[in-house]
Amino acid sequence: MNWTPVLDDDATTVSGRLLAALRRDIDEGVLMPGTRLPPHRDLAHRLGVGIGTVTSVYGEAARQGLLTATVGRGSFVAETMSKPGGGDGPIELSRNLPPLTFSQRRFGPTLAKLSKRSDLAQFIDYAPPAGHEAHRRSAANWLRRVSGLSDARPDRLLITTGGQQAMALTFDILCRPGDMIMTEAATYFGVRSIAQEGGYRTAGLAMDDQGLLPEALDRAAAAGARVLYTLPTLQNPTGRIMGSERRAEIAAIARKHGVWIVEDDLYSAFAIGNAPPPLAAYAPERCFYINGTSKALAPGLRTGFLILPDNDHLDRALRRIRAHVYAPSAMGALIGSQWMEDGTADEIVGEIQAEVLARGQIAAERLGSALSPPADPRCPHLWLPMPELEAERFAARAMRAGVEVTPPSAPLIDPSSISGVRLCLGMATDRAQLGVALDRVVAALDAGRTEVAATVI
Ligand SMILES: Cc1ncc(COP(=O)(O)O)c(C=O)c1O
Repeated sequence: MNWTPVLDDDATTVSGRLLAALRRDIDEGVLMPGTRLPPHRDLAHRLGVGIGTVTSVYGEAARQGLLTATVGRGSFVAETMSKPGGGDGPIELSRNLPPLTFSQRRFGPTLAKLSKRSDLAQFIDYAPPAGHEAHRRSAANWLRRVSGLSDARPDRLLITTGGQQAMALTFDILCRPGDMIMTEAATYFGVRSIAQEGGYRTAGLAMDDQGLLPEALDRAAAAGARVLYTLPTLQNPTGRIMGSERRAEIAAIARKHGVWIVEDDLYSAFAIGNAPPPLAAYAPERCFYINGTSKALAPGLRTGFLILPDNDHLDRALRRIRAHVYAPSAMGALIGSQWMEDGTADEIVGEIQAEVLARGQIAAERLGSALSPPADPRCPHLWLPMPELEAERFAARAMRAGVEVTPPSAPLIDPSSISGVRLCLGMATDRAQLGVALDRVVAALDAGRTEVAATVI
């Protein structure tokens, strides 16, 4: 094949740049598995580099499992790259991660860039328990852009080990064992794990196409519940967005009953320009606001953001951080804040959005009316409403056909009020693999309809 790679400027050596280009082109499908690479001499000639450079890069790529080499035949792109969701296992539509290739591509060059920073050494020390001030400032600025939280205050923002730790920390402050956490009737599974470990009870509140219903909150709060966990933007799993009036109503009800709002805004970056400001803008004095880099950039950074409603709660959170981990790791926030400051974060978000949009269109074409369309077509998770038992049977059929979907019971707090199946678009290795998975999903849905028809005699 006539592969002539484009060598980016970021890596330090020619070999580094060639290896990075090879990895990038494999990741992006420019070089498909099984493709024969140009002979060493040809590529060296085309790039104007020594043949030894190409030989050493091919050798290193083979050691890393990117290539296979057969004497006399040449070098080939490996057939079995162990990509998430790839290989022989089921195609993964179960976990809600962004397509990782866009941040992966920046990772190496960013590390090279960071290695040249004159202030790098300080990050090897403990960070302050709240996180480095510069990172808190970058995060607050970024939140203004991606979530519309125009008064995001760095002095009230803590860097956490992901959104999940921000949630656990908040519930630890607000709840005692036996206390009730109100949630949407179907919600993010992570709140169930926290409730289980902390001995908290959960109450699933009824929803409509804007998410949480104000009257359900009013009723549960009147009965004594004091903590609400909610996802107003691209609700997980349903993909709904709460409108502005509804947000104001929820804030007013929370105020009336003295309810603390724990707002999970991790998906706001997928609805930029299409969602009202967070609830934290409507009730800043009652809101624990959570966001982070896991969905918009890269989950491996393990960097979350928690904005506290007042200094008293900020101190309580800091005491817990000191007791649990002393301080967050500076490394994830260092990379995240570098990206936020130099424009890379905006680029990655734009690329992820465009990819998810294209994937969502493929899904909408295949699934038609089985799909409850998300409030923004860039939503990375899709919701297929169906009765609970049917959902379990469908998930089992899909798994037999080689597609893993989120276990239907995982998000359900009140199965009598809502049930269905969540499909996540980010983990398929590419659009073609997603298409294959969705064809199988459609077949599994059709088989369900036939099964029902066959049992009605
Ligand atoms: C709604 C929601 N909140 C929080 C999290 C946890 O985020 P993190 O990976 O940053 O801990 C997730 C991850 O799936 C999520 O979907």
